[in-house]
Amino acid sequence: MKKLIMMLVLSTSIFAGDYVYITIGSDAVSTSQKSIQSFDVVNSTDEVSVVRVHKDQVLNVSSLMHDKFNRCGGFIFHDTKEEAQAALEKNAFRNTTKSMAFFNYTITKSATVTKMVDEVKEAQIRETIQKMSTFHNRYYQADTGVDSQVWLKSKWEDLTSARSDVSVELFEHSKWKQPSVILTIQGTTKANDIVILGGHADSIAGFWSKERARAPGADDNASGIATLTEVIRVVMDSNYKPQRTVKIMAYAAEEVGLRGSKEIAQSFARDKKHVVGVVQFDMTNHNGTDDMDIVFMTDYTNKAQTEFMGKLIDTYVKVPWGYSKCGYGCSDHASWHNEGFPASMPFESTMGDINGHIHSKDDTIEQSGGHAEHALKFAKLGVSFLVEMGK
Ligand code: BES
Ligand code: ZN
Repeated sequence: MKKLIMMLVLSTSIFAGDYVYITIGSDAVSTSQKSIQSFDVVNSTDEVSVVRVHKDQVLNVSSLMHDKFNRCGGFIFHDTKEEAQAALEKNAFRNTTKSMAFFNYTITKSATVTKMVDEVKEAQIRETIQKMSTFHNRYYQADTGVDSQVWLKSKWEDLTSARSDVSVELFEHSKWKQPSVILTIQGTTKANDIVILGGHADSIAGFWSKERARAPGADDNASGIATLTEVIRVVMDSNYKPQRTVKIMAYAAEEVGLRGSKEIAQSFARDKKHVVGVVQFDMTNHNGTDDMDIVFMTDYTNKAQTEFMGKLIDTYVKVPWGYSKCGYGCSDHASWHNEGFPASMPFESTMGDINGHIHSKDDTIEQSGGHAEHALKFAKLGVSFLVEMGK
């Protein structure tokens, strides 16, 4: 205790200004406010508050914490307001999506994004949907479900071969055959922050013998994987290098209970990875709703990030958008949300207007007019998200 007070005295003495910043348990705020003069809460979460306090009061705070809360010190001293704010974000970060209200959602890269969005091409997306649909199925326990992921890995490798800061890996799952595919663009200056764009690569159909059933899964979800593949192509062609690390994920085994993404999200949580934002592209090519092109699911998602994505659409994609609700954890965004990471799910239609051919042999691109015009809008949104979140 004495040592701590000494440290505080030394720390405060190096300050030119009269005020210092501390982080303190939010439960101690109201008691402190009553007995400490000029004790100003600058920001707070349920757990932690950033407080500006006069340097002459620091020792009073310390003894109050000790006497009333039985805490030695009971607060963390910070050199600057920014450092205090960063500590609060870090502490509050795990297991609460609310805390990401502190992520600085801004649109500042309009020259770069506008140029890149113009490069997104329907024909490229269409081609990937068609290719993925040629695998008999992409079921998580079928050999063709492994083949399709091996193909996707080499497709992503081809697109990124000119870049030494990009790698593509299989994420093997111990309980089934099909691996997930993860592409990583190493961040330049904020590499510890991770932005994730994902979709599931598996498909499903049939009742008794799903391993053998024909399941083209064109909309569910070759469309999402083709959307991501086009985002990769455009980012590479533009030679864009994000400051944060960006990961593009093609999950295995979504159709059987979000199992691939669950393992990955849990491993990121276990490793305390600093995931700042996740977007899920699952079904992007069937234009089922007249007055809305992009529909955000409001459950198992983060409100602040989703509102930001609405702004990205207004700025860069310029199509009508709105909200709907799955009513359950309907795709891989829920795996990330459940681990406390902020996730969004932009979807092709409202729940009332869903494509009735999914999970059958009839989920083909022909059901969406034989083209990828709808998915094109999602690829533009994906590029915008990658650049504005990755900066
Ligand atoms: N793409 C669907 C999710 C979906 C379908 C969202 C229709 C909105 C409308 C996804 O691949 C899927 O089929 N999910 C399962 C749930 C999962 C936990 C097995 C589902 O919806 O039954
Ligand atoms: Zn599905």
